[in-house]
Formats: sequence, C-alpha cells, structure tokens
Amino acid sequence: MLVAPSMLSCNFGKLNDEVKAICEAGADKLHIDVMDGHFVPNITFGPVVVEHIAKASSKPLDIHLMVKNNTFFVDMFASLKPKYISFHIEKEKHPHRLLQHIRDLGIKPAIVLNPSTPPESIEFLLDNLDMILLMSVNPGFGGQNFIPSVLEKAKRLKDLLIKKGSNALIEVDGGVNDKNIKDLKNAGVDIVVAGSYVFKNDYKTAIRSLKVQ
Ligand code: DX5
Ligand code: ZN
Repeated sequence: MLVAPSMLSCNFGKLNDEVKAICEAGADKLHIDVMDGHFVPNITFGPVVVEHIAKASSKPLDIHLMVKNNTFFVDMFASLKPKYISFHIEKEKHPHRLLQHIRDLGIKPAIVLNPSTPPESIEFLLDNLDMILLMSVNPGFGGQNFIPSVLEKAKRLKDLLIKKGSNALIEVDGGVNDKNIKDLKNAGVDIVVAGSYVFKNDYKTAIRSLKVQ
C-alpha cells in the first residue's frame, strides 16, 4: 500500500518543516487538495503556496483538483511538474480531451469519483488514465467520516480494470485510518490518502500502520 499524506491537515504556520518531516516519515507522495470555493465550499492552495511545497519536498506531488474550471487549474499547476493531476468527472464535459492534455504536459492523468458516482460512468475512459481516485467522503474538508460503500465500489472498479486490461492504480481519499486500511487493501486499493489520521499522530508510526497490515 502506498501512502499519500494530505497536506490540508498539516500546520500551515510551519509549512516547510511539515513538508520535510512528512517526506522523512515515509510518505510516498504528497497529496495537495486544490479547492476553488465553487465546486466545493472551501478554498485552499494556490500556485504560490504549492510551489513552496514542491521546492521543500523530496517526494512527488499528487494534485487533487476540486474546482469548476479544470483546464484553467491544470494549466496553472503544470509548470510545477506534479506526478499526478486528478480532476472530478462530475463537472467535466470533455474528459478525454482533458486527460490527453494532462498527458501532453508530461503529467500522469487521473479521474476522481465522488462517493455517489458509479465506477461504470468512466468505463470508456479507463484506457486513457493512470489512476482513479475514489472519494470516501464528500470533498471539501479534512476530518470527515469514512463512507464504507467505497469498498464495494473499489472492488467493482478493480473488476472493470481487469476486464479492460488496464494497469491504472486505485487511490482512496477521505477518513482513512488504521481501522479501515485492511478492508481497503482487500478491496484492491493501491494508494491511500490520509490527512487527519497522519497529522494528528506520530507521522512515521501512522504512515507505517497504513503500509503494514
Ligand atoms: C477532502 C480531501 C481529502 C482530505 C482528507 O476533500 O480531498 O484529501 O484532506 O483528509 P482526511 O484524511 O482527514 O479525511
Ligand atoms: Zn484529496
């Protein structure tokens, strides 16, 4: 299991130290939640702050867009060379075009599904993406409770990926902790995002508890 701590839960008053500490504690990549106040009722990081995180980080960035105008934000963050950019399918009219645009920028494209969006809705996009992010909370805030129906959804998605011969990874985001990690592993999940669970505990111990079940 790979672990991507969500920087939304870190102490922004000492951002540089937090980035360095979480990298040293064993993070595989840093999850960056970009919110625009329109797609979700919250506003978080802009490109200036994410540039500071990128400079301080020894690990790749995983940018999760929760915005209305995906293309605008993809172009805004592209020069920071994140490893992944993921966008929500729910508001995107031309997902094939945007996936290709992200790939043309040298970034791995990924799609995010809200808790109520079925995996079958992206069946015809699976050939074109490197990762699917399944939300296990409604997007907008850290510290919410895990929605267990994501487990069945991950299994259905895994079956679809096998049927299509796709190697895309499955990532789950929201309410992940040491209580649900085993179920996530059994459901075929490859990467977990964890915010409050990691940042409210000893970073190294918490990350290790998500990697070793
Ligand atoms: C929610 C974000 C998550 C959030 C996870 O909109 O996408 O990445 O920060 O935080 P926890 O792990 O506290 O649910
Ligand atoms: Zn996220």
